[in-house]
Amino acid sequence: MERSPRIDGHTMLAGVIGWPVAHSRSPLMHNFWLAQGGINGAYVPLPVRPGAFDVAVKGLQAAGFRGVNVTIPHKESAYRIVNRLDRSARRSGSVNTLVFAADGQIEGYSTDGDGFVANVEAHGVAVRDGRALLLGAGGAARAIAASLLDRGVQVVIANRTRARAEALAALLEGIEVIDWARAGEALAGCTLLVNTTSIGMEGADDAAFPLDLAQADAGLVVCDIVYVPRQTGLLQLATRHGLRTVDGLGMLIHQAGLGFEKWFGAKPGIGPEVEALLDADL
Ligand code: ATR
Repeated sequence: MERSPRIDGHTMLAGVIGWPVAHSRSPLMHNFWLAQGGINGAYVPLPVRPGAFDVAVKGLQAAGFRGVNVTIPHKESAYRIVNRLDRSARRSGSVNTLVFAADGQIEGYSTDGDGFVANVEAHGVAVRDGRALLLGAGGAARAIAASLLDRGVQVVIANRTRARAEALAALLEGIEVIDWARAGEALAGCTLLVNTTSIGMEGADDAAFPLDLAQADAGLVVCDIVYVPRQTGLLQLATRHGLRTVDGLGMLIHQAGLGFEKWFGAKPGIGPEVEALLDADL
């Protein structure tokens, strides 16, 4: 039988601030890792209304929380409230993890880009140098582009609205922009193809993407950041073309793991158990 965690005066606390937040899978993951590691900690969902973010964060900090994850609709407020912005947050222009430091300062991190890279590497694919074609130019694309550039990967971005891709390229040095309709021309020589758009969540055929995977190098690794469903339209296409794929669930787990380490001072066990736990809950 599962035992309830013991909550006492030494329990380390963290949580996720959002509105709504009931759907968040973060509590499941973090509490699993805490139990697995025998760590005296707890991670709770924190429903905070729009407008109440600052007072909630200050309150949690005053109450001794180690930190929090921040999700919709508070990400902009999180960026604004921090005293120290980590490089990851500055480069990606967003904050999803707050750490309440011992000196009273609030530190802000973005763990999405490094979580993406850690997940790809966990699949046995070294993310260093090479060339990546990113589809999409939203917040997730920016975080991933920043982490790839940091590892010497050449980044090409194709976005339906070209101006958005150009705006992103103006913020991060080294990005090449290509028209959405011509994305396929950038595929040759690519080691990674990353879909950060919502295309394919409902399944998709070849026509949904502006590229022909038959033109890809045999070593191309195709990634999607969507994890519901795990086998997105793009990943199904890639599999049909005999290409290796990496789905988005692992990115969710790895980006969470980076926050866990910062708050609880231990590396979480990222393996098939936590993946199975989330899979069962999707
Ligand atoms: P996030 O911050 O999670 O990346 P977002 O800012 O909403 O989310 O970005 C969604 C991305 O998916 C955008 O790049 C969007 O393209 P536009 O900038 O042209 O809107 C892309 N996208 C969504 N639906 C799409 C579709 N049907 N075809 C092509 N691109 C699509």
